[in-house]
Amino acid sequence: MDIMQAIGKKFGYILCAVLLIHLLEFGDGAKRKDWTGKLIFEEHFNGEKLGRNWEIVGNCEGKGHKDTNLECFTTREDNVRLRDGLLIIEAWPEEWHPKELWAKSKNFTSGKVKMINELGYQYGTFVVRARLSKGNHLLPSIFLLPAYQDHDNCKYEEVDIAQGRGQRTSTVIVGAYFGRQWNHASSRKTEKAIRNTDFSAEFHEFTLVWKQYRLEWFVDGRLIYTIPMYYYSDWLLQDESNLPCNMNKKLFQQELQLNFALSVGGSMFPQAGYGDLTLDDAKNWTKPTLEIDWVKIYDH
Ligand SMILES: *[C@@H]1O[C@H](CO)[C@@H](O)[C@H](O)[C@H]1NC(C)=O
Ligand SMILES: *[C@@H]1O[C@H](CO)[C@@H](O)[C@H](O)[C@H]1NC(C)=O
Repeated sequence: MDIMQAIGKKFGYILCAVLLIHLLEFGDGAKRKDWTGKLIFEEHFNGEKLGRNWEIVGNCEGKGHKDTNLECFTTREDNVRLRDGLLIIEAWPEEWHPKELWAKSKNFTSGKVKMINELGYQYGTFVVRARLSKGNHLLPSIFLLPAYQDHDNCKYEEVDIAQGRGQRTSTVIVGAYFGRQWNHASSRKTEKAIRNTDFSAEFHEFTLVWKQYRLEWFVDGRLIYTIPMYYYSDWLLQDESNLPCNMNKKLFQQELQLNFALSVGGSMFPQAGYGDLTLDDAKNWTKPTLEIDWVKIYDH
């Protein structure tokens, strides 16, 4: 075999290995992780109204003026409600004109729910049982943000426990962001395809284990992704311009809290790859909801 052939073959093996890593199959024999630690928060969304730990967020420009999302979040029951022991967030194609004169009107509505400002957790195991969405440009998100949310505070941290793209219901996106602002941050994230899985058809358990120097993500108790965080320079700030302006380089050590949102469009759906969202697309949405069954948080 000549040298080029040998290199080509070797490269082929590496490529195969990489592809294998990205397509995970959870056989019955695979080891499943059980959560340990003290249960410090639990929510089952029973009853008719959200309890006092949660707040329904209504706004049209949640992320500020560079936001390209197509939805307004409203606090109406159409968009956020409890039903049959589930928290249901639903998106609709409909014009929405916010009351604030300065705010933009949008053609879609949806919902967002977050923990109240008084609740925040530093480290721990966050387990959420949920069913994601199906339909073009739908982005269900289960994520953590600082307990004292201020997108302009010049230190932005976000950990995505699970996100989905409504066009690809067998993959889940997980990762973390650190930087100045939501759109000026370094990230480590991955999109994993899980064989024989439709995240919009069944409920699955999404887990983040957040330790001081490590973030780990699990689906149905099986590890899918890990980020070590000893030194910020290892991964987060290859681009130094993302450094928070107060130069605070501590990674993921402030209290974070849970958020659930179902967004429509935005930066996860670049036009080149996904095209524009038309009204016909939206009429074809087969499952424009994000459903949360329960949440548990364990202290380590
Ligand atoms: C809403 O839809 C109308 C009609 O299709 C369009 O002209 C307008 O630009 C849309 N607005 C936004 C904010 O996308
Ligand atoms: C909507 O669904 C119908 C029936 O399945 C299909 O014919 C049509 O092409 C779909 N439209 C879009 C915009 O995807």
